[in-house]
Amino acid sequence: MQSKRQVLVRRLLDWYDRHHRPLPWRETSDPYRIWVSEIMLQQTQVETVLPYYERFLERFPTVEALAAAKPDEVLRVWEGLGYYARARNLHAAARRLVERSGGRVPETREALLALPGIGAYTAGAILSIAFGRRAASIDGNVRRVWSRIFASADGRTAPADLEDLAATIVPREAPGRFNQAVMDLGATVCTPRNPRCDGCPLRDLCPARAGGLQHVLPAVKKKAPVPERDGTAGVVTDAAGRLLIVQRPAEGLLGSLWKFPGGFSRPGEPPEATLERTVREELGIRIRVGDRIGAVKQVYTHFRLTLHVFTGRIGRGRPRALACQDWAWAPLDTLADRPFSGVDRKVMAVLAARR
Ligand code: ADE
Repeated sequence: MQSKRQVLVRRLLDWYDRHHRPLPWRETSDPYRIWVSEIMLQQTQVETVLPYYERFLERFPTVEALAAAKPDEVLRVWEGLGYYARARNLHAAARRLVERSGGRVPETREALLALPGIGAYTAGAILSIAFGRRAASIDGNVRRVWSRIFASADGRTAPADLEDLAATIVPREAPGRFNQAVMDLGATVCTPRNPRCDGCPLRDLCPARAGGLQHVLPAVKKKAPVPERDGTAGVVTDAAGRLLIVQRPAEGLLGSLWKFPGGFSRPGEPPEATLERTVREELGIRIRVGDRIGAVKQVYTHFRLTLHVFTGRIGRGRPRALACQDWAWAPLDTLADRPFSGVDRKVMAVLAARR
């Protein structure tokens, strides 16, 4: 008699053979390409990743090519994909591998975890997919599948030791295909709200489904409403019509991307006052605020931003990089060469519409 585990493994591998999504990182055995895919897939859906993945590997086909690139070039190719620390970490890790280990992606969990940007989930994915090692890779999709399959008999509660269960079920043969089968099942069949149980190879083994409670698991916490924030950006020009731009500090949400000068408003602060204050903090200069030329909006994970856009001129002083990494006067037609965040590209669209 086969155990439930053996049946699950066999059915998932068969299902994967027939139904897996044909994805470019599944057509390679190059650990570098698999590593890049797993970093891009952190917190980002497959469809979003696809065009970035192709472009990134065309531009940086090897660890060596990535290591040799300038930070701005890497961020420019990543621009729009979000979570920019991933790009900075990937770049730093590539440089380290080239310096210390001939550019080879490590094959052990310890060495992978020691690289910037690689946590337990990504290490497990690389080990199993690139090197055929038996390792679990548990993200939100995978956790949902197992919380339903290993639910209590009445289908109401997820197992307390879900991580351990998920780790022990990975088979020694084909661990990479198995992990990706669970990822695909979670992404295409065992979805959060309306799971397509009729197409599931595990439907007769699922206590959540037997209890009609597949939508209930895993219990999700209600999300707190996202706060609204206001900010101001300055389109500050010099006599030659060049624009003043600022490189964000390396750490943080949009670290090392370029932006227009400005920042967040304090409660009750008028946008013009915000612009004067934040430019003084950022660059140590006083500016004369001109006309309001528009507003742009951007939704981030933790807040919604309305950015009021004003023209401006430097009143007194020469910029200094106080609360930023760098600054520059840049002609409008050179802005495409540098990495900017999405909200700043929207500011550029406001400028383009005025021309
Ligand atoms: N999400 C994370 N890794 C993945 C992979 N290898 N295939 C599909 N989705 C994923």
